Amino acid sequence: MCGIVGAVAKRNIVPVLVEGLRRLEYRGYDSCGVAAIDGNGVARCARSVLRVADLERQIRDTKLLGETGIAHTRWATHGAPVTHNAHPIFSHNMIALVHNGIIENYAALRKSLRASGYKFVTQTDSEVIAHLIYSVYRDDLFSAVREAVKLLHGAYAIAVFSKNQPHRLCCARGGSPLVVGLGEHEHFLASDTLALAGSTNRFIFLKEGDVVELTLDSVRIASRNGELVQRLVHTVNTYSDAVELGPYRHFMKKEIFEQPQAIADTIAHIDAFDPELFGTGASDVFKETDSLLILACGTSYYSGLTAKYWLESIAKIPTQVEIASEYRYRDSVPNHRSLVVVISQSGETADTLAGLKHAHALGHSNTMAICNVESSTIVRLTTLRFLTHAGTEIGVASTKSFTTQLVALFVLTVTLKWLRSNTDAGLQTQYLKQLRHLPAALNSVLALEPQIIAWAKAFSHKENALFLGRGMHYPIALEGALKLKETSYIHAEAYPAGELKHGPLALVTKAMPVVTVAPNDILLEKLKANIQEVRARGGQLYVFADADTRIVNDEGLHVIRMPEHYGLLSPILHVVPLQLLAYHTACARGTDVDKPRNLAKSVTVE
Ligand code: F6R
Repeated sequence: MCGIVGAVAKRNIVPVLVEGLRRLEYRGYDSCGVAAIDGNGVARCARSVLRVADLERQIRDTKLLGETGIAHTRWATHGAPVTHNAHPIFSHNMIALVHNGIIENYAALRKSLRASGYKFVTQTDSEVIAHLIYSVYRDDLFSAVREAVKLLHGAYAIAVFSKNQPHRLCCARGGSPLVVGLGEHEHFLASDTLALAGSTNRFIFLKEGDVVELTLDSVRIASRNGELVQRLVHTVNTYSDAVELGPYRHFMKKEIFEQPQAIADTIAHIDAFDPELFGTGASDVFKETDSLLILACGTSYYSGLTAKYWLESIAKIPTQVEIASEYRYRDSVPNHRSLVVVISQSGETADTLAGLKHAHALGHSNTMAICNVESSTIVRLTTLRFLTHAGTEIGVASTKSFTTQLVALFVLTVTLKWLRSNTDAGLQTQYLKQLRHLPAALNSVLALEPQIIAWAKAFSHKENALFLGRGMHYPIALEGALKLKETSYIHAEAYPAGELKHGPLALVTKAMPVVTVAPNDILLEKLKANIQEVRARGGQLYVFADADTRIVNDEGLHVIRMPEHYGLLSPILHVVPLQLLAYHTACARGTDVDKPRNLAKSVTVE
């Protein structure tokens, strides 16, 4: 999704802006640009539909520099990803603007601005904001931005400068993320703290409706109702080496192999299933909770689906899992004793955030975030939280965030169980032991990589694939199919294996690879019968089978032996070979693994 960086300083800030854009590249973009005012009050701009590296080359060639500037990575929504639609966008060669979000009433605004004589040179919704600001600008940028944003419907984070007011930047937040970074006689703004790592570790997280003016020595914030307010300053140490590949070719592979460490870090502070792990007051909230409503999107939604099996079988708590973008627009019957759990790697996903706000509007007051970013909006809007410590995830395809979310949800399950039915303490110790052994167990799954590479070569020639799982491994099959389709562009679908005969079996031919997740659990014999249904139709099975399942290589049946069955935590092990299969198939097909086409890491628009 779009990324924004801005800076005002008494030095050339263009390198800071470009470095910020480089750090935001992982969010996904299809064009980028920068504009800056130099010490003599001259504003210049560069744009590219290639990578940030190309923008950097243009900046070098044209010696673009400046002490006040804004920069942007654009993920096209309105208007094609072409140079003239790339931001910064100018109004009357005076106001320069970058925008993240979608302006829903842009057509009406455009019409009325056109009627007043404004000319549009882009197809973007963002250009109306630049013109609106210009239309009310009377040499006071702060006032003009405050006035203009009142007319916007939709989502925005914007950063603006006016050519005739160097050393002054304004920004505003309304539905899209934006942080202000504080320096010594210099100030910054960006879509996330990672973009400013190395420039500052002191941040203000803006509230919805805030409009800000940054100069060399001052930060003025006006809240939604127009009052000048103070906001808390947070220290956030973000490490820039998170965005370095090290010995890896891709972030996706790096992040798959970081999973043992990510899980160890996520559980490092746990020595009992104590409600306080979820925040102060969690015990009281849990006591009045009679059900769970989980809201999430994509991979995070699949972690919720997996957890439903744990929550209902271990904690005996009724659990509903909903895709956030569906929940927010349907009529539902709120149960105010439900705990609303939102799961999100980034904590900024627009649909999940809107789902949470919708739950608030329906009167849900008990909310919890399971999130990887402490400073995110979702964490700030929930009463309880559990932070996964996966570290920064750069690859667009979620990997380590998924397995750490599962760990968090398992901890939640066991915590709820103990609070609700104070049973066997020995079992608690056993669950803790299994969690602590997970990193070692994951390492033995990662060691299967060479066998998976051999399968990936065969997969790279396919255009379709089916994934099968049963019980709590059905969401793992869903996640495996999602990973394969998004990274390799192979059409993949997942089914609960028992559903095959109700339709999808018609797709099975010799050309159809059928990936099967085969844990040694109570559904094994049923799954074996489903495997036979596929074999009888000539389908090619690729089975990840636990030790002792007695599923062995045969005609049309390819088997990779997993370690021994890992009980309730088995989904966390079984998803890893599916991640590796997707990764290596994508590499064999030569796709852009870390930045698949049309996708973005942080989906901050609806
Ligand atoms: C798929 C993937 C997406 C995200 C989804 C939610 O690999 O990464 O499906 O899971 O966009 O993102 P978060 O978890 O940041 O809310």
